[in-house]
Amino acid sequence: MSPHSTRRLVRQYVATKQGGPFQIIQVEYPTPGPDEICIRNRAVALNPLDIKSLDHGMMVRKWPEVFGIDAAGVVEAVGDRVTDFKAGDAVMSLAGFGGQSGAFQDVTVVPAHFAAKKPSAWTFEEAASVPLIYLTASAAILKGLSVRLPFIQDPPKDLLGGPDGISHIDQPAAQLPKSVLVLGGSSGIGSSTLQLLRVALGPGVTLLSTNSPANNAHCLKLGANTCIDRSYEMDKLIAAIKDASPGKQGVDAIIDAVGALSPNPAGPPVDANNNNKDGFKIFETLNKDGPKLFSQVMTSPHSASLANQIPAEMGIKVAQPVFGRMTFEVVPGGMRAMSRLAELVDGGGGKFKLPLNVEVVGKGLESIGAGLEKLRGGVSATKLVVSL
Ligand SMILES: NC(=O)c1ccc[n+]([C@@H]2O[C@H](COP(=O)([O-])OP(=O)(O)OC[C@H]3O[C@@H](n4cnc5c(N)ncnc54)[C@H](OP(=O)(O)O)[C@@H]3O)[C@@H](O)[C@H]2O)c1
Repeated sequence: MSPHSTRRLVRQYVATKQGGPFQIIQVEYPTPGPDEICIRNRAVALNPLDIKSLDHGMMVRKWPEVFGIDAAGVVEAVGDRVTDFKAGDAVMSLAGFGGQSGAFQDVTVVPAHFAAKKPSAWTFEEAASVPLIYLTASAAILKGLSVRLPFIQDPPKDLLGGPDGISHIDQPAAQLPKSVLVLGGSSGIGSSTLQLLRVALGPGVTLLSTNSPANNAHCLKLGANTCIDRSYEMDKLIAAIKDASPGKQGVDAIIDAVGALSPNPAGPPVDANNNNKDGFKIFETLNKDGPKLFSQVMTSPHSASLANQIPAEMGIKVAQPVFGRMTFEVVPGGMRAMSRLAELVDGGGGKFKLPLNVEVVGKGLESIGAGLEKLRGGVSATKLVVSL
């Protein structure tokens, strides 16, 4: 750029190729499309997908690429048709897949429905930790279990449900699961799922979580009735889950929030003989007289094949693996999922708490690479975030 140029530039933190390294480059300030907004990022969250993209090119269409799926910041520009936001609004947002829509850059462009006003009680760092895990948890419930989320789907007056805290306009109570096992209740998706199940199904539903004992208090605070040590060997795990289920009969539904059924969450969910006998034993925890629902989050390109591997004679209603963006499309009202979350947090009487502990691992785009290496080492009930 010439020193006299008036071009407005922004910085992007790009992975130059699969495996890295990262590099900071400058590009033209983006122009939002008619339904888009430009956000000046103040904080970005680090997600397992960022590592999978770097290591395996997952969801990457071209190199170099901008990663990052969660951001919080201040709106700087809006498209012609955008009415919900104006310059200066503090927001949190799902980011897109790469390019100008990735989060790891100064300014991110997203469709307006990806964003919501930042809840007043949350910092930018806290707000950045939520969109992806909240949307994915919503999809696991809406699509994976076919259970309504009243604060998204019902008219605004029903934001918090009916007199009993539940609102199901067209879903007979008899069809709703009365007990749900969340595999990975302390993960980001699990911590969101527990809370949303409580909102959707009310105080009477029994929620069980598998997690490390150190996170029991965390999961109980977010709505679990009982936590089971995820390190138990399978037979002990099954016995403990059944023991904690209503009447010790087993649960109505399982949500796998972390790819727990797969021997290797990043690899095929089956062994060399094309089966996953060990993983599938978890289905013994389903009540044989119940609806036998199974919902799983997509954790790898192999997740979809798991659904096909579950033997039909088990009689399990297996949903296709879910991903966060599904929430926008899967039900009428899905496009307002983000704005309704902001209302639920600010006006919802604590019905949706910050799902994870937030750890700020650095300041500035250049801190992201080291933050991702820290994430690779593993996290527990924690979201790593970089301040910008
Ligand atoms: N498809 C999508 O749209 C989408 C969106 C977001 C994430 N994902 C994927 O979903 C998975 C979870 O993402 P996340 O961000 O929620 O993860 P995360 O919070 O980073 O996961 C860490 C947590 O997982 C728990 N965990 C790990 N293995 C477990 C197991 N076998 N059983 C029970 N708990 C286990 C750990 O529990 P303890 O510390 O208590 O032991 C830890 O708290 C990742 O594979 C991610 O790539 C998919």
